[in-house]
Amino acid sequence: MKPLNLLLLDCSPRRDYSTSRHLTGQLLPALSAHFGREIRVTRRNLGTEPLPAITAEYAESLLLPAAEAQQRYGAALAASDALIRELEQADLLWISTPVYNFTVPAVLKNWIDLVVRRDVTFIATPGGKVGLLRDRPTFVAVTSGGAMFRDPPVQPDFFRPYLSAVLGIIGLKDVRFSHATGLAFTEVPQSVIEVQATQSLRSGALL
Ligand SMILES: Cc1cc2nc3c(=O)[nH]c(=O)nc-3n(C[C@H](O)[C@H](O)[C@H](O)COP(=O)(O)O)c2cc1C
Repeated sequence: MKPLNLLLLDCSPRRDYSTSRHLTGQLLPALSAHFGREIRVTRRNLGTEPLPAITAEYAESLLLPAAEAQQRYGAALAASDALIRELEQADLLWISTPVYNFTVPAVLKNWIDLVVRRDVTFIATPGGKVGLLRDRPTFVAVTSGGAMFRDPPVQPDFFRPYLSAVLGIIGLKDVRFSHATGLAFTEVPQSVIEVQATQSLRSGALL
């Protein structure tokens, strides 16, 4: 059977001690058994190799119909085109990220601003935006230093509602979250992450 292509967006600027990378390392191997297929990973290190910031040309292009935007600003759209192609080729999307100030880090927001494009990944209709990408399972492995994702809330959660909404408008509706939180309060974040990862897999929330 053909392997499944997984696009992994790694959003932490930290390397060896990154908690989100560790959480992903605990969870991702379970996918192969779950789908009964080999998983081929394409990793994009948004945290350590950030994408270029949005340019004036790119912002201008978003105001135009797609064909005209391509004609006038083709070169400025190249990075965005490549990211969208990479996403289209993925059977699965995996986002590995910390929470920054109650929401997604700027490097992930920048990727979002480059892939959410009118007439390319969504169309605007009188009833709202409609996604043009085929839906596919999207996994979000997220870590935080404080007590995010508690009920009742201790910190406001602009992370999950935002990510679900913005991925939803391009057609990615099947978004599953797994988190390890409160990591600032422990001397041994690695083992706390491992416990929370096991709970996540057992609860069936992720797979
Ligand atoms: C700029 C910045 C903002 C942060 N904001 C929050 C926050 O709003 N809530 C929270 O619980 N932790 C916050 N943290 C803590 C990180 O979520 C936490 O350290 C996480 O484990 C980092 O993941 P990493 O090791 O993969 O980089 C913040 C950290 C940084 C650097």
